Amino acid sequence: MNTSTLIFADLIVWFLLLGSVLSYNTFNKLQLPPNVTSPESAAFDRGGEGPYVTVADGRILKWQGPNVGFVDFAYTSPNRTKDLCDGTNDLNLGPICGRPLALSFNYKSSDLYITDAFFGLLVVGFNGGLATQLPGIYKYLSGIDVESYTGNVYMTDASLTYDIRDMTKPGFKPDSTGRLLKYDPRTQRVTTLLSSLSGAGGPAVSSDRKYVLVPEFANKKIQRYWLQGPKHNTNEVFLTDCGSPKSIKRAINDGEFWVAVENQGQPQGLRVNGSAIVIETVPLTQFMNLSPAVVQEGGNALYVGSSGTDFVGVYTN
Ligand SMILES: *[C@@H]1O[C@H](CO)[C@@H](O)[C@H](O)[C@H]1NC(C)=O
Ligand SMILES: *[C@@H]1O[C@H](CO)[C@@H](O)[C@H](O)[C@H]1NC(C)=O
Ligand SMILES: *[C@@H]1O[C@H](CO)[C@@H](O)[C@H](O)[C@H]1NC(C)=O
Repeated sequence: MNTSTLIFADLIVWFLLLGSVLSYNTFNKLQLPPNVTSPESAAFDRGGEGPYVTVADGRILKWQGPNVGFVDFAYTSPNRTKDLCDGTNDLNLGPICGRPLALSFNYKSSDLYITDAFFGLLVVGFNGGLATQLPGIYKYLSGIDVESYTGNVYMTDASLTYDIRDMTKPGFKPDSTGRLLKYDPRTQRVTTLLSSLSGAGGPAVSSDRKYVLVPEFANKKIQRYWLQGPKHNTNEVFLTDCGSPKSIKRAINDGEFWVAVENQGQPQGLRVNGSAIVIETVPLTQFMNLSPAVVQEGGNALYVGSSGTDFVGVYTN
């Protein structure tokens, strides 16, 4: 090897190191309105606008850029008033103010589907406003992903026995009665795909629509339920050893996902491919020390939402 080859090799090593160290190390905040907290879900619309987030006071807010900030987009409870509800995080007001937890667009129709801990499954058009409640009986709907090609809605009901208010009671323990459900908008029927889940979080359908991944926070694993192919209607363990996964979102790279996890006290975003290989681990702790509820990729950034924060964290390179 001559000197210039050595220097070249050195440079490559240097860039690789720099790349891994600099990965998503720039941080910004999208500040929520006064007293508003807990953006636990984030989504972008068909035109790339957003993020739209669910917050603790019962609203779905839309980010309109740094000059305007977040504005009201939709809400889930017909009895919600801004006077009573804006800025509250009182779960006892949930039946009046609503408590939307997750959201997902149907990119064909531009409808926004919402899960609410008190009002179940709802849908609202692209102009927002009061969302329409859809049929179904739920205890504690949490995560959601709409598969835009068929319009089918995949969602998780966290439990048959406890609801969101029970979780704040002393001595609370999650059970294993969570379910993965499918809502078919043509028949308006809800079917159970998986049961006995423990701490079921936000599911994600693969970009080829062949399967859906479901995180089990309390079981520290991710399950794969096959929608198509030789194994359809069966499930298997997809990933363990990944800490406690809260939610899964499709990444921009086809066939990949971002998983929000808490791993030995460390909030992380994991980029995982369809072979369950963790391709990238992004530490989030330096700028956000609360357990991440969602890691949503948009543009060149990761949008991180969490229960308890008054902002959405934006990680860029
Ligand atoms: C925020 O909460 C504080 C304390 O409860 C209250 O005094 C204040 O009016 C609230 N601000 C807004 C804009 O709701
Ligand atoms: C809204 O308020 C009315 C009048 O108090 C009540 O009858 C109705 O049940 C409430 N609706 C919901 C969804 O809580
Ligand atoms: C996942 O990544 C591994 C390692 O790069 C690769 O071998 C595998 O083919 C990938 N799987 C898929 C489904 O892309």
